Amino acid sequence: MSSVNILAIESSCDETAAAVVADGRRVLSNIIHSQIDIHRAYGGVVPEIASRNHIMKVDMVVAEALAVANISISDIHAIAVTNGPGLVGALLVGLNFAKGLCFARDLLLIGVHHIEGHICSNYLENPEWMPPYAALVVSGGHTHLVHVRNYGDYALLGRTRDDAAGEAFDKVARSLGLPYPGGVEIDKLSKIGNPTAIAFPKTMLEADSLDFSFSGLKSAVLNHINSQQMAGRDIIKPDIAASFQHVLVDVLVQKSLAAAERIGTDKLAIAGGVAANSALREKMAAACDSRGIRLNIPPPIFCTDNAAMIAACGYYKHIRGHRDDLSLNAYPSMPL
Ligand code: KG4
Ligand code: ZN
Repeated sequence: MSSVNILAIESSCDETAAAVVADGRRVLSNIIHSQIDIHRAYGGVVPEIASRNHIMKVDMVVAEALAVANISISDIHAIAVTNGPGLVGALLVGLNFAKGLCFARDLLLIGVHHIEGHICSNYLENPEWMPPYAALVVSGGHTHLVHVRNYGDYALLGRTRDDAAGEAFDKVARSLGLPYPGGVEIDKLSKIGNPTAIAFPKTMLEADSLDFSFSGLKSAVLNHINSQQMAGRDIIKPDIAASFQHVLVDVLVQKSLAAAERIGTDKLAIAGGVAANSALREKMAAACDSRGIRLNIPPPIFCTDNAAMIAACGYYKHIRGHRDDLSLNAYPSMPL
């Protein structure tokens, strides 16, 4: 039986990405053009600059994805594209490119929710993993606990009430004078810091809540840095980074285990840029091990933004018969 090949395009933030994935799992190509070096000078993503750079790169990235996959557009069954949530100007670039290609080559168009894409990164190069399971999605803009009941069937168990986990990482990194994006910098610096040097507050919210709140933790770190500076004391950056990361990771691990318990599953998956964090990967693995929970974490390259995850998601929508037409629009926020 021949495989179902999905070409996917992702441009929701500062990565212009395209990928070809066979049968939702086999990654034939995964091309990512990152704009990080361009936005670093501004300390964060500048939406208009992101859109303009997507326009300059999208055709080359798509051509490269087809070339690396060694596949012709005539062997593509459908084009999956992120149409939200994200920066609307950035989304529109990938979406309109996908629409143009679908129109020209008479291909099926499938719009994909970015967070659903992150969840589906767990299927990439992984023939075993399938629903049902609990999923923690931790990215720059989102922190969600989700019950994945089936492909395309989700129930939201909890979410952040203020900052996303990645946002907290990036803001704390910025206050420590680390370059954007700060998550990976905090991860690196923490390795030489003492995680119990500073007792930052751990916000768990109500006893039965699976929601998150990271703004108190973030403010406590900023206050600590300010008060150290005012008192003329040294700022021990590795200790601050490690102590902040320790608390944040602890909350993510505890709430994820509580979510798995709540829905009665022994399977947990994590996804999103923050899932690339080494402390989160280690602590989640140890906690799941001690409780007999099967944990799946995609390799870091599938955790941060990529189009392979959009293709995986698009494949499952495609085989369920989902079709979009050329009126498909882009949305900065979108319910899962
Ligand atoms: O999923 P993603 O690439 O983009 C969004 O959809 O937001 O996530 C980006 C976020 C950023 O906040 C970045 O700092 C964070 O993921 N991140 C990390 C690590 N790598 C990326 N956070 C902590 N540790 C890391 N190693
Ligand atoms: Zn993302």
